Amino acid sequence: MGVMERVWEKARANKKRIVLPEGDEARTVQAAAKLRDEGLAEPILLGREEMVRAAADKTGTDISGIAVLDPAGSRKRNGYAGVLFELRKAKGMTPEEAESLSADPMYYGMLMVRQGDADGLVSGAVHTTGDMLRPVLQIIKTKPGVSIVSSSFLVNCQRRDLGEGGLMVFADCVVVPCPTAEELAQIAVSSADTARTLCGMEPRVAMLSFSTKGSARHPLADKVRLAAEIAHKMAPDLKLDGEMQLDAALVKEVGMLKAPGSEVAGRANVLIFPDLQAGNIGYKLVQRIGGAECFAVLQGLARPCNDLSRGCSVSDIVNTAALTAVQAAE
Ligand code: ACO
Repeated sequence: MGVMERVWEKARANKKRIVLPEGDEARTVQAAAKLRDEGLAEPILLGREEMVRAAADKTGTDISGIAVLDPAGSRKRNGYAGVLFELRKAKGMTPEEAESLSADPMYYGMLMVRQGDADGLVSGAVHTTGDMLRPVLQIIKTKPGVSIVSSSFLVNCQRRDLGEGGLMVFADCVVVPCPTAEELAQIAVSSADTARTLCGMEPRVAMLSFSTKGSARHPLADKVRLAAEIAHKMAPDLKLDGEMQLDAALVKEVGMLKAPGSEVAGRANVLIFPDLQAGNIGYKLVQRIGGAECFAVLQGLARPCNDLSRGCSVSDIVNTAALTAVQAAE
């Protein structure tokens, strides 16, 4: 069974309410109908009703039975504005600003999730990643025991001999531009959790660098080695090793040569990149040149919210909503 088939099966077994703040956007409306038809989630479309209906009509989409909510006219808006003000007053937000932002579908949707009126959120077909991430970080925040929010890509590549039958987890490719060693360790531990939860795999985590086990001496490689040590302390039972080069992580013969005795080298299924430039370029290389399928999720949040690429397809939105539903169920 493929990774997405497994995710769809889990989503169907435990249907969750997924709010879609970009409810008047054509692909989002079509995705909501598909989520309803496939029984993957209960979608909630945010936006002015006439705009949402116009997007549905334009694409010939039947949205009967799907909840449509206009934040500006909602009876919950005042309460949400109060929650937002309490969360952000120390950072200088005024009650008037909170009142105004609570009518913004992105903020309203996140407040719904925070207050338990929805189980998860998917957005980003229109908004940039930064515009989606800032309110997520401010409103949803990290789950207890997790220091930072980061992301994982589920990467399904054509080489079935790599990772877990071709499936791997890459992190962080979206959120943290320049992680410290402590942050890199947290990214590794969070990504191992994602590998278990969403891929059903037993993680073997490689902390990537241009050096394997001290083969090069440089502060950048030292940082990755330190991150591996911290991660070991955070999760002593986790199979994790580093620093190591990509070939040592994935290719059995190279792993045996460069990192003999490692339980990760040559068979890694979770790859932790040293910073966002490496991670973002790395996943796009396997996607664009290698033809791999890639699905992104945010990890470490108190409640699940996920970002889309503005170039996303209807099926990307459906899959991301299904992944969000599974995160909510866990
Ligand atoms: N985890 C938890 N909290 C965080 C994190 C994090 N990773 N990063 C920032 N925060 C918190 C801050 O502590 C702060 O909280 P506070 O206001 O309560 O004090 C709040 O979030 C905002 O932090 P800022 O530092 O003001 O936000 P910043 O301007 O740094 O933006 C952001 C954070 C948006 C995540 C930024 O780091 C960023 O732009 N990352 C890259 C996003 C991106 O463009 N990715 C690549 C494209 S996506 C793709 O290709 C698929």
